[in-house]
Amino acid sequence: MHTLKQAQTYIEQNRVGKRKRPAFHVTAPVGWINDPNGFSVYRNQVHLFYQYHPYSTNWGPMHWGHVVSSDMIKWEELPVALAPDQAYDHAGVYSGSALETPEGHALVYTSVEEKEDGDGNKTVYQTQSLAIGDGENYHKVPENPVILGNQLPEDFNQSDFRDPKVWFEDGKYWLVAGNLSKDKHGQIVLFSSEDLRHWQYENVLAGDEDGVIGKMWECPDFFKLDGQHVLITSPQNMSAAAYEFHNGHNAVYFVGHYNKEKHTFDKGCPHALDYGLDFYAPQTTQLPDGRRILVAWMKSWDSLAVADGQEWQGMMSLPRELSLENEQLIQRPIRELSDYHANKLEFSGIIGKSFKIIEGVSGRQIDMTLRLSGNAYTSFTIDLAVGVNHYTRFIFNRHLNTIEVDRTYSGLQADLNCQRKMTVTPSDNIELRFILDSHSIELFVNDGEKVVSTEIPTPLDSQKIRFVSDGETKLSLIKYDIIIP
Ligand code: FRU
Repeated sequence: MHTLKQAQTYIEQNRVGKRKRPAFHVTAPVGWINDPNGFSVYRNQVHLFYQYHPYSTNWGPMHWGHVVSSDMIKWEELPVALAPDQAYDHAGVYSGSALETPEGHALVYTSVEEKEDGDGNKTVYQTQSLAIGDGENYHKVPENPVILGNQLPEDFNQSDFRDPKVWFEDGKYWLVAGNLSKDKHGQIVLFSSEDLRHWQYENVLAGDEDGVIGKMWECPDFFKLDGQHVLITSPQNMSAAAYEFHNGHNAVYFVGHYNKEKHTFDKGCPHALDYGLDFYAPQTTQLPDGRRILVAWMKSWDSLAVADGQEWQGMMSLPRELSLENEQLIQRPIRELSDYHANKLEFSGIIGKSFKIIEGVSGRQIDMTLRLSGNAYTSFTIDLAVGVNHYTRFIFNRHLNTIEVDRTYSGLQADLNCQRKMTVTPSDNIELRFILDSHSIELFVNDGEKVVSTEIPTPLDSQKIRFVSDGETKLSLIKYDIIIP
């Protein structure tokens, strides 16, 4: 067992200086993070928790780290909110969600317990538990666990039953969680409750009947958006499919119709949420102004290298505003980012066959939008975070309508996957918005049509940006530094 006090003392003694961490992407003060948890608005502030192992840069017994913000760009660290300190959660306080309730800020999480039989075989029990707090201190309720595995239909898997996402609708609390069916296919189960403590199983909201969308479906989220319903989940161990899915852990969404009486979701086809190399376990919340915001772990179980000497591991993506256009999810960077724009620089000109460096266009904490036009070229290349030995490359192919990211030379010292390709809407006028924050690059294509998120371990003195094209490309560019006071 690990207590909150131990975690907090360790953090105070080992905290990594802020300047060694990204400026506006959430990272842990020290140690490992994975999934975003409890993304919610409580007393007019946005709270974000995360799967946390303070004691090393590897996954370990899970806690919930905690940050708070009023604009989701400038985050304030709060004390660790939950530790694996009870018999029913000693093996981990796993992912979950949060919401504002009349009795306080409610956190609903997966409590993990391991039991050993006489022969030394371990069985894992995943149950759901509740903690209530005031936005800083949380207590686990005496009724925990509030949902047991044996509340599931008999033939469902009770060891893989996790990541509850809760919401309040029509006078009741609702909860979706990931689970495995009797055929070991991923599925999302739905529960309801009057008081967050007594839950009733309702139905399988959606499932992978044919067993073709990975294995276990982790970290579900389910919400209404622009008149439709969206189900998000992160299936483990998927097989690659053209440019849409890669091998391993993917984050996918389905758009469809929710039948509220029958508790079924008619889910349509899965689509990727991101086309980069680091993106998993996204979770959303709704702001008081109605915007639906998504944040994800900008890392992946399939690419876990950490740079030598770096004492923090993993970060959250930039929060994104969601909308639906023709059943496609559109994701735009949270608009509050522009409040931190500084040193505007504009350029307009032709890029040709030799590498071009534009005066003033450089940096690792920037928001840069490019517009490419013309029809005298096929490929246009952008190299970011360029140093003597390093760069991360993006190539737009105007004839194939593809964008490729390549971080082979970003400074990685492990043999991870470094390339990914995706298709974009054919156009002689493409918009590419790159957001860099010391250790990451997020590319938003055509105002949110597609996103590419990638961590880069590149030394911070690699600051240059260069462009090259195989023909003549007309480039217009606006670049801002992002300065967080
Ligand atoms: C997803 C996940 C969740 C689980 C958590 C454990 O990345 O595997 O299913 O709750 O991480 O840290």
